[in-house]
Amino acid sequence: MKNVVLIGFMGTGKTSVGRLLAGRLGCAFHDLDRKIEEACGISIPQIFAQYGEPYFRAREKEAVRAAAARSGLVIATGGGTVKDAANVALLKENGAIICLTASVDVVLARTAHVGDRPVLDAKDAGDRRQAVADLMAERRELYDVADYSVDTSDLSPLQVVDDIAGYLKREGVFRA
Ligand code: S3P
Repeated sequence: MKNVVLIGFMGTGKTSVGRLLAGRLGCAFHDLDRKIEEACGISIPQIFAQYGEPYFRAREKEAVRAAAARSGLVIATGGGTVKDAANVALLKENGAIICLTASVDVVLARTAHVGDRPVLDAKDAGDRRQAVADLMAERRELYDVADYSVDTSDLSPLQVVDDIAGYLKREGVFRA
């Protein structure tokens, strides 16, 4: 099986859906942010605080290269992974790209905790909803690279998994 790659904005459910989807498909779950944290030995917010975003993006690129060289994985990307066209090209070579979306209010609720998401925190000048809306608008087109898209706003993670599994079966990516 080629890889199944979940892309999408922060708080759209890539990690929780990815873990469940991997279980459903019987393959390994590969979370790029966790791989970066393991490689650096510190958390994502700490990486941003100590070394800055360019350093994080470079580590992210390495993590993409390593993941894309493998197959049969469910890969959860970070919300900004697709900002780099080379990352998208690598992931597309051997992967079905699935985009998870959600409304501004749902993303806001899921990313309310300050300190976990440095890119959103940096954008937040006091109106977090505005920060989510602005960043989402800025990035919207980046997620158009997906082969398939699911709006997770009103779905449970299991419902999202059912939807994606149905798509993968129809497309012959996954046959069981
Ligand atoms: C980022 C999203 C985060 C993480 C990092 C940068 C972004 O991942 O990769 O904080 O630029 O959108 P999640 O989408 O899992 O929150």
